[in-house]
Amino acid sequence: MFGKRIADGNGPTQPAQLPVPTESGVADAVPPPLKPQQAMAPPAKSVAPKQPDPAQAEAAPRSEEYYAIKTTIFNALIDTIDLSQLAQLDTTSAAEEIRDIVTEIISIKNVVMSIAEQESLLQDICNDVLGYGPLEPLLARDDISDIMVNGADAVFIEVGGKVEKTNVRFRDNAQLMNICQRIVSQVGRRVDEASPICDARLMDGSRVNVIAPPLALDGPTLTIRKFKKDKLTLDDLVRFKSITPEGAKVLGIIGASRCNVLISGGTGSGKTTLLNCMTGYIEPDERVITCEDAAELQLQQPHVVRLETRPPNLEGVGMVTMTDLVKNCLRMRPERIIVGEVRGHEAFDLLQAMNTGHDGSMGTIHANSPRESLSRLESMITMGGFNLPSKTIREMIAGSIDVVIQAARLRDGSRKITHVTEVLGMEGDVIITQDIFLYEIKGEDEDGNIVGQHNSTGIARPNFWDRARYYGLEAELAAALDASEV
Ligand SMILES: Nc1ncnc2c1ncn2[C@@H]1O[C@H](COP(=O)(O)OP(=O)(O)OP(=O)(O)O)[C@@H](O)[C@H]1O
Ligand SMILES: [Mg+2]
Repeated sequence: MFGKRIADGNGPTQPAQLPVPTESGVADAVPPPLKPQQAMAPPAKSVAPKQPDPAQAEAAPRSEEYYAIKTTIFNALIDTIDLSQLAQLDTTSAAEEIRDIVTEIISIKNVVMSIAEQESLLQDICNDVLGYGPLEPLLARDDISDIMVNGADAVFIEVGGKVEKTNVRFRDNAQLMNICQRIVSQVGRRVDEASPICDARLMDGSRVNVIAPPLALDGPTLTIRKFKKDKLTLDDLVRFKSITPEGAKVLGIIGASRCNVLISGGTGSGKTTLLNCMTGYIEPDERVITCEDAAELQLQQPHVVRLETRPPNLEGVGMVTMTDLVKNCLRMRPERIIVGEVRGHEAFDLLQAMNTGHDGSMGTIHANSPRESLSRLESMITMGGFNLPSKTIREMIAGSIDVVIQAARLRDGSRKITHVTEVLGMEGDVIITQDIFLYEIKGEDEDGNIVGQHNSTGIARPNFWDRARYYGLEAELAAALDASEV
């Protein structure tokens, strides 16, 4: 199959369909998106049977010699196989074909390699042809939360809250760009010089951003927020000491008693994770509508409608904004509206929804403190051109948001819930808030880990007490608040 012809012993013969060489002169790993079904074909995940753990593959640094051998073998492979036929095979069979051909090429070309080296080369080449190339071993690792590729030679990952550089590298920027193309083409998008910014999603749900030259000066820049198959729960957050058991109980009651919640935090502080946890307390009979830029939330309830925004197409039309989605939600008889991230004019529509009988709606916002999150909401509405006096906007905020939960990533890489804060109302022109829980940093241990403690502020009857009572949760709330350290 695939023109695998090594019969005369002089090496691979010409294939039925030649590969498209890239500018770098190296035939590219990624089949060009010739046919739609080819472009949309899901990439290989675990590419072949009986392979070493792909997570190990990026552990050892590779020599220049290794890359030279790989390029030679790779080029011979590309000359031999018909990529369009390969794309029609299922992943396992395609990987087996590639392994057979590569093994033959290695023996014909008399390349001296140990079994382990050969296995690792086979794995790399399968990843290049069928999957996301050098990214595969990183994508296979569950402990990585972010992958950041700054051009072909600089790949960083975030593990356990810390960012580190890896040994992974791409052959050149052309290979990296082709992998970026392959990723975004799967969700029907395109990235090139004409449209160098693109958001996409991997098949597994990971969130992807690509920014290409000329905007990115050092080569295509790819950022992946890995999708966690097993989303963290509030119990996990308790285990990680992000919150105390009593604090988690109070958060659960806030979710169950249909408070309107804003989750605030910096980049990667755990906002979406926390939002996902909070949605765990929604009753199964409630109709929930989620609006996101890239669908990340995983609600477990049966009655959920998931909506996603859309960027404009190449002609600059067809954009669907978060505002459009939130407005449309209101015509869909939602009981709760969940907005993945509030970042613009949709703030106004979300607050209106919260104010008009959609209790228990939630959203996240980028801000460094609960107070800042409220003023960010205000400026989003002001910038939306609604032409309202600022006091009116603040009244609207105070009347809609019940609780702000602040998430933070501390400098030791740990994530904490640093504030659970209630919005009480207005006093004059100012929104009044009241902290219920606070995280207090005490210092650092000898390993550089931050030592601190979650404290209750001693509020025995928060403002949402009546709500909790309405839902029959006041005894639990009282017990959780009593048990918290003051
Ligand atoms: N409390 C926690 N303890 C440990 N890891 C966490 C915690 N919360 C979140 N994480 C991990 O941190 C990473 C980032 O989390 P998340 O996507 O929720 O952040 P975010 O604030 O929504 O980020 P962004 O601003 O990019 O949207 C994820 O891999 C997640 O699993
Ligand atoms: Mg997020």
